[in-house]
Amino acid sequence: MPAPLPSVHEILTTRRGEEMVLNDRVLNPQLGRIVRTLGFDRQWVAGEGAHLIDDRGDRYLDLLCGYGVFAVGRNHPDVIAALEDVMAARTPNLPQLGVTLLAGVLAEALVERAPASIGAMVPANSGTEAVEAAIKLSRATTGRDRILFAEHAFHGLTLGSLSLNGNKEFRDGFGPLLADCRAVPFGDLDALERELAGGGVAALIVEPVQGKGVNLAPAGYLRGAQERCHAAGALLVCDEVQTGIGRTGRLFALEHWDVEPDMITVAKALSGGFVPIGGVLVSRHVMGRVFDGMERGVRHGSTFGTNDLAAAAGLATLRVLEREGLVEHAARMGELLLELTRPLVDRYEIVREVRGLGLMWAIELGRPGGAASRSLFKAVERAQPGLIAQLVTVPLFHEHRILCQVAGHGMNVVKALPALVVEEAEIRRFAAALEEVVAAAERLPSAMASFGWRMARQSVAARR
Ligand SMILES: Cc1ncc(COP(=O)(O)O)c(C=O)c1O
Repeated sequence: MPAPLPSVHEILTTRRGEEMVLNDRVLNPQLGRIVRTLGFDRQWVAGEGAHLIDDRGDRYLDLLCGYGVFAVGRNHPDVIAALEDVMAARTPNLPQLGVTLLAGVLAEALVERAPASIGAMVPANSGTEAVEAAIKLSRATTGRDRILFAEHAFHGLTLGSLSLNGNKEFRDGFGPLLADCRAVPFGDLDALERELAGGGVAALIVEPVQGKGVNLAPAGYLRGAQERCHAAGALLVCDEVQTGIGRTGRLFALEHWDVEPDMITVAKALSGGFVPIGGVLVSRHVMGRVFDGMERGVRHGSTFGTNDLAAAAGLATLRVLEREGLVEHAARMGELLLELTRPLVDRYEIVREVRGLGLMWAIELGRPGGAASRSLFKAVERAQPGLIAQLVTVPLFHEHRILCQVAGHGMNVVKALPALVVEEAEIRRFAAALEEVVAAAERLPSAMASFGWRMARQSVAARR
């Protein structure tokens, strides 16, 4: 018989420090190994705005942002207050055969802020669930099977979304995936047109800025895709799970390109990082085609989809974004970050490109000059693709207290997703720290040697 469970308050105080042991025993030990090998195994005790705080009281600039959920910053008091309001009101949550207020007001708020093509929301609980819904709604609306997606796309890891994943590392071992899903090169309108000409396409599902690699849609691509899809009787779905809710300096990234898609998926940042959330913003046409009679009124849905906590958190997040001018702030901070970091391309041979939109930013590394460094680079790349990027992320963490990530498997791209509340001084601090670690990484043999040392030390510690 397991011991009786104490209260959460007691657990938080009496079992502090057991995180990693528990992870290794009953969660994901391989994740534990990764975290320990990188030396990122801090004991985090608090989160505040753009920062994580460890048990020594050290503040780390968090450029991972919980994979993009903490746009309004960690533990924003207004979102906490909204959640407490729901609890205090003892709301009649989830009557199921009945409807509630907060989900309706959130849908209304999103529809009002979305492009004119959008008229309603289909609720979900996560990004991947929103994408799954978009696949189903596309098929039901058009009566067609085929779904197009972009190479290198990431739309989530459940089976339908995985069928639209442009990265082999995620797909392998989980097949067979959905039939009739086909990758097209991102940004290539001719290739899209050729696929559409084959007929039977229900939709193109595409990220305006790809999360894996931070690849921006070329000018005119999304608009051109919309025209071509519509001409072929197919729908355009913009996956804004990562780019939406202010991340790129507009509420929806698609506003940069003036597109009016048939559906927009949202999730991640919408609930301020507190509770799972998701939704598909859909056109009236889609809504009417899918839910086309009383007998089909509940043919798609999800038990927790309209729950009050998610809706309240979503409303509070939108309110904070607007009241604090965070979307405009993100645009300004993003411009500043590019201005400070783009010159690295000319200053360092190892820097191939710096790119970004709003506060979705990346630096791509390439082969350094000098025969010795170049052959070492090639050898490292052969042994472990993408390892070079860790020459940036690891010292950023250990020497500068900045947490960021490699932008995808096997890529030498380092990515940053700061909270939209990030202050100018922190952006400047990041840019200066980055230059320091890039300069060290460019001295590749010595950078590899000290990196190798650190990794060896960490993995010995990890095995203990
Ligand atoms: C563009 C995009 N779509 C979908 C997803 C899946 O979201 P979730 O992890 O909430 O299922 C992600 C997650 O990173 C994403 O970036």
